[in-house]
Amino acid sequence: MATITLEKVAKSYGAVQTIHGIDLAIEDGEFVALVGPSGCGKSTLLRMIAGLEEISGGLLSIGDKVVNAVEPRDRDVAMVFQDYALYPHMTVAQNIGFGLKMRKTDAADIANRVAEAAQILQIEPLLDRRPGQLSGGQRQRVAMGRAIVRRPSAFLFDEPLSNLDAKLRVEMRTEIKRLHGLLGRTTVYVTHDQVEALTLADRVVILKEGRIMQEGRPLTLYEEPANLFVAEFIGSPQMNMFSGTVEADGGGVQLDGIRLAIPVRATPGAPVRLGARPEAIMLTSAEQADLTTRVEVFEPLGSDTMVSCKIAGTMAVVRLSPEVPVARGMDLHLRFDRRKLHVFDAKTGNRIRSAASET
Ligand SMILES: Nc1ncnc2c1ncn2[C@@H]1O[C@H](COP(=O)(O)OP(=O)(O)OP(=O)(O)O)[C@@H](O)[C@H]1O
Ligand SMILES: [Mg+2]
Repeated sequence: MATITLEKVAKSYGAVQTIHGIDLAIEDGEFVALVGPSGCGKSTLLRMIAGLEEISGGLLSIGDKVVNAVEPRDRDVAMVFQDYALYPHMTVAQNIGFGLKMRKTDAADIANRVAEAAQILQIEPLLDRRPGQLSGGQRQRVAMGRAIVRRPSAFLFDEPLSNLDAKLRVEMRTEIKRLHGLLGRTTVYVTHDQVEALTLADRVVILKEGRIMQEGRPLTLYEEPANLFVAEFIGSPQMNMFSGTVEADGGGVQLDGIRLAIPVRATPGAPVRLGARPEAIMLTSAEQADLTTRVEVFEPLGSDTMVSCKIAGTMAVVRLSPEVPVARGMDLHLRFDRRKLHVFDAKTGNRIRSAASET
């Protein structure tokens, strides 16, 4: 049983604390992504799980055993790094089997495990090549092969795809998801790419400055961000944010020149931030519209057209159907989709109203 449990796990370098008491319970077989901006502590956390970094406070358990003081090699986890560090003079087969050889595994067993990993990763024809004769994606597979042959109870990935081009990243993303389905092992995956986190993981943990900002299923994070940080981090293009105030009776939110009758549980007059994703602002008739604005910039993507325009004093992005003819300077009658709005306390940044609640 490879559950991974963190209880108040902390990390300090000298007087500087970088990880602040993380509590996280990862289930056996679960795929968890740790995501957040550069420097938020993703790698540090992963390296503490792997045993490559000492834990300054709290408890880390793998299965039902506390492993704070257990050597990396005895933790039964395998890590795949961004920089695969393959040995250039060895063949693919030798690279994959090298860790086992160092552990004095017998040669026949190594050969079997290498063959099995190569089959899983579909790199059998490459076993006799050297790393210099492989593409980036193939090298990444070899790095995963090295982890697979160890048959660990958990896989730890630290930005394994960031050296690959955009197309290959998407392909390898599918590959990692397939592998997880096949092997069913507990997986902790670090990335700064929110799309990668949302598409791969059962559960996503969003970190900022060594603290968890929110954790949950991908769609929950998208639909019910707990605070401004998560709201702006998840989703591309970013959620549009407008400044507003709560009306006297609490029955609505007043933006610059726009009144939205959405009930909010907040002090009348309190400043709020109103969030609307590009798909939460719809094209409508002049009569139905909350506002009328002009197209400033548009990007036809084929599947959608992204339109930049000024709304309530802020530049916003609106997602339109590609069938809508759009031209620069054209008038747009727009309406906020009341069911898809998010309201945050402007001071604390915390969510005030559930987006799902109807007006
Ligand atoms: N050896 C060290 N000594 C002092 N501070 C460190 C050390 N290693 C990391 N840090 C600090 O700890 C914080 C977290 O670093 P970490 O490498 O975990 O970030 P990250 O989220 O993986 O970022 P990135 O996306 O850039 O890889 C950073 O502020 C970093 O400067
Ligand atoms: Mg990192």
